[in-house]
Amino acid sequence: MTSGDHPGETATVSSPPSRGVVALAARRVTKRFPGVVANDEVDFELRAGEVHTLLGENGAGKSTLAALLCGLYQPDDGHIERGGQPVRLRSPREGLARGIGMVHQHFRLVERFTVAENVVLGDPAQPALLRRADIEARVAEIGERFGLPVDPRARVSSLTVGQRQRVEIVKVLYRGAEVLLLDEPTAVLTPQEAEALFTTVRAMTAEGKAVVFISHKLGEVMAVSDRVTVMRGGRVTGEVATAATSARELAELMVGRPIEAEVRRGSAAGGEGDGTEAGPALEAAGVRLVQGGQTVLDGIDLAVFPGEVVGVAGVAGNGQRELAAVLAGITAPTSGRVQVAGTDVTGGGARAARGAGLAFVPEDRLGTGLVPGLSLTDNMLLTRRREFLVNRRAARREMATAIESFEIKTPGTEAAARVLSGGNAQKVLLARELAGLGTGAGPRAIIVASPTRGLDIGAAEMVRGLLHDAREQGGAVLIISEDLDEVRSLADRMVVLYRGRVALEGPTDELTLEEIGLAMAGIQPEGAVAPG
Ligand SMILES: Nc1ncnc2c1ncn2[C@@H]1O[C@H](COP(=O)(O)OP(=O)(O)O)[C@@H](O)[C@H]1O
Ligand SMILES: [Mg+2]
Repeated sequence: MTSGDHPGETATVSSPPSRGVVALAARRVTKRFPGVVANDEVDFELRAGEVHTLLGENGAGKSTLAALLCGLYQPDDGHIERGGQPVRLRSPREGLARGIGMVHQHFRLVERFTVAENVVLGDPAQPALLRRADIEARVAEIGERFGLPVDPRARVSSLTVGQRQRVEIVKVLYRGAEVLLLDEPTAVLTPQEAEALFTTVRAMTAEGKAVVFISHKLGEVMAVSDRVTVMRGGRVTGEVATAATSARELAELMVGRPIEAEVRRGSAAGGEGDGTEAGPALEAAGVRLVQGGQTVLDGIDLAVFPGEVVGVAGVAGNGQRELAAVLAGITAPTSGRVQVAGTDVTGGGARAARGAGLAFVPEDRLGTGLVPGLSLTDNMLLTRRREFLVNRRAARREMATAIESFEIKTPGTEAAARVLSGGNAQKVLLARELAGLGTGAGPRAIIVASPTRGLDIGAAEMVRGLLHDAREQGGAVLIISEDLDEVRSLADRMVVLYRGRVALEGPTDELTLEEIGLAMAGIQPEGAVAPG
């Protein structure tokens, strides 16, 4: 049986004539959700043999377009074409029957099933009596052909995130996909895994398959794609050949205005003689944390000095979140010690940490950071009752200044925090937590989880600027994030966590992407001695 031989479809052979044929297209498609036009008369054309990136900021409409292209959603207006013919895809199953397969941002595998079982699960074309061994052989063969090594017999629950993604890709290839839609596939990968994925993508296009690659990371977009369609606010703002564009031009299409020169990461205040001899502003020593019988933090030593930005990186689930909670006093460590500006705050709760001079911007901005039902002014007062106790007017004035200087979009200082968008909530939190950092009047150290996650380019630039200003003023900044690019662009020094341990540490400029990636994957460089 050969895969994907559908009438009227010419994209299945690898010989050059099939290349350049329009394999899949959206013609003026519109998709509305309550209160938002997620896709507004979008035109998109994917040719056989190409990697075509859909680029855009959060909320631009990329996932919605992909969902329309694979049959998960149906357009309110306009239509989809496959191989030049209008088609109605009433479900992802119908999409797959026409050779269109999507790999979602959030995987949809069954944990307790094996790889091979997941691959054939719910496949209507699967003969009832196909032997397990045959399925496993076919899975292995696909894996080999496209550089997607997976053990067909492994249980999905035992696989890493990167391996699970491979299973998802194998699954759609197994079902004969000639067009693959990959929604932000690199978001969960180490640099090496991302590189391996790009090799896979090239192996697929070399066979004439077409790939829609969704991303908002300009570097990888420039590296992997043949063409780029840029979206903003549900509309297409440009379609360009990668060879004829630049990262800067793409960024401008993304945000719809000229971009300032990238905020440069200056050097840490180190040599000024104002910092290190004063001792760390934030320090963890031998921190262990056991939760539900699992060791999630396994002897962490970490110090952040005044005037530096330290970044903690790692693949999700390797202890970053727990480390932030322990340092901020939210979770008491099982053993070990946490100090803020020389004061031992271990086990004293968030109040002790804050009292000693630690500010904290959690990942969950509106859940644990701000109180949604309170006004912005009252949220300002929340963590600083002492100063503002009798001075609500001062708090309101401070909030008004913040609204103006951070360009926070809100009806005013008395608006409830719940009406803020994610980016604006982040700015309010930073305004509150960063105020006076390092000046003697405010906190000595700050922990910020995923500082620019979900922000548009403009807001992200501003947040980066704020953190660097805080550092220049002698503040100690610790950034904890699962986004490696974010950590590298912000931090003077980096710490990589793997399974609750520090797997690598050093100045950001001196660590290669390869070293970092290996550490994130828990692989020791040759000749190195395993820690502990
Ligand atoms: N299922 C849905 N229900 C309601 N609104 C949605 C849904 N999916 C997406 N949206 C909205 O549509 C817009 C585009 O979202 P999406 O396509 O997910 O963007 P992207 O993938 O580029 O981040 C956003 O404003 C989003 O909130
Ligand atoms: Mg999306």
